[in-house]
Amino acid sequence: MSDKVHIFDTTLRDGEQVPGCQLNTKEKIEVAKALEELGVDIIEAGFPISSPGDFTSIIEISKAVSEPVICALTRAKKEDIDCAVESLKYAKRKRIHTGIGASDMHIQYKFNTSRQDVLERGVWAVKYAKQFVEEIEFYAEDAGRADLPFLAQMVEAVIAAGATVVNIPDTTGYCLPWDYGAKIKYLKENVKNIDQAIISVHCHNDLGLATANSIAGVINGARQIECTVNGIGERAGNTSLEEVVMIMKSHKELELLNRINTPRIYPTSRLVSRLMRMRVQPNKAIVGDNAFAHSSGIHQDGFLKHRETYEVIDPHDVGVADSSIVLTARSGRAALKHRLENLGYFVTKEDIDEVYPDYLVMADELKVIQDEHLTELFGKLETKREQ
Ligand code: KIV
Ligand code: ZN
Repeated sequence: MSDKVHIFDTTLRDGEQVPGCQLNTKEKIEVAKALEELGVDIIEAGFPISSPGDFTSIIEISKAVSEPVICALTRAKKEDIDCAVESLKYAKRKRIHTGIGASDMHIQYKFNTSRQDVLERGVWAVKYAKQFVEEIEFYAEDAGRADLPFLAQMVEAVIAAGATVVNIPDTTGYCLPWDYGAKIKYLKENVKNIDQAIISVHCHNDLGLATANSIAGVINGARQIECTVNGIGERAGNTSLEEVVMIMKSHKELELLNRINTPRIYPTSRLVSRLMRMRVQPNKAIVGDNAFAHSSGIHQDGFLKHRETYEVIDPHDVGVADSSIVLTARSGRAALKHRLENLGYFVTKEDIDEVYPDYLVMADELKVIQDEHLTELFGKLETKREQ
């Protein structure tokens, strides 16, 4: 099995479904170009039948971007597939992503039909789309809660019909990592023609497990991860691109490779956050404001002696300018000395011992100490000395 994991970015489709995050065509092109620079393999550019704006955006993204495959989402319906084919007409490399619900929950309540019927509709959609586009990805929606032997039967049938990628979404973010990983393993071992397709993982974050589930999926044989920048997406979001990429990069023992140009991660995260008007939570892994900020004395002391005592990723690897030492009332003398020296002061141990009690009083009051507060603090010491 190849160790290359394809990165399928759905920021512009599943990510853009977030209320208030809608982008216009110009903004979508900007994000698509940034994704191309980031090195994603596939850009899911939208769900063309959903609105004229989405349709036009796919057309324009197809013209603006040449390296990644451009993918359009459809339901298992003729009108959706026709619309997707039309929207992809300028794409240099194209893919249709079609599918239908696979769990009994979806079959009964969404479609009010039988397993056999959804299976037949899925096969039909793949065969129909295949007449126009070579790369067909099939999604078995809510696969995470589907009956496993039925899911295997469906996957086998759609591969026989021409699907080149089979997406096994944990649509509701319900699975546990070992359970989701076991499902992928089961498909690998029980679907006769599975080697004719790539298995894709598409995990939602309702229980905070999207990243863990995606990694469990690739460990068990999936070779495509569907993800979004900053983990944005329906409800609690999708698997976060930066997290899965940096897990693969940091854990060499997984022997999983991808094409992502990691120093582009942070600028792309900022771009998406700005255009979608969606703040990144400060403690967000990899791209949050605090991801490389050290604030307690014990951590700061260790970090200043050797970065890797408290960092598993070099911030430069993800395009963050540097780690930061945040001065609070929990900070120690080492951090205070470091920050004062960065401001250009020559400080001795005795200086630090002298200003430290005043520093703590100030930090208790102000919570976070900024450079101007340090100038004031050290200025007072210098004035005292001159007298
Ligand atoms: O979460 C999901 O199941 C989806 C499919 C449409 C792929 O987004
Ligand atoms: Zn989804």
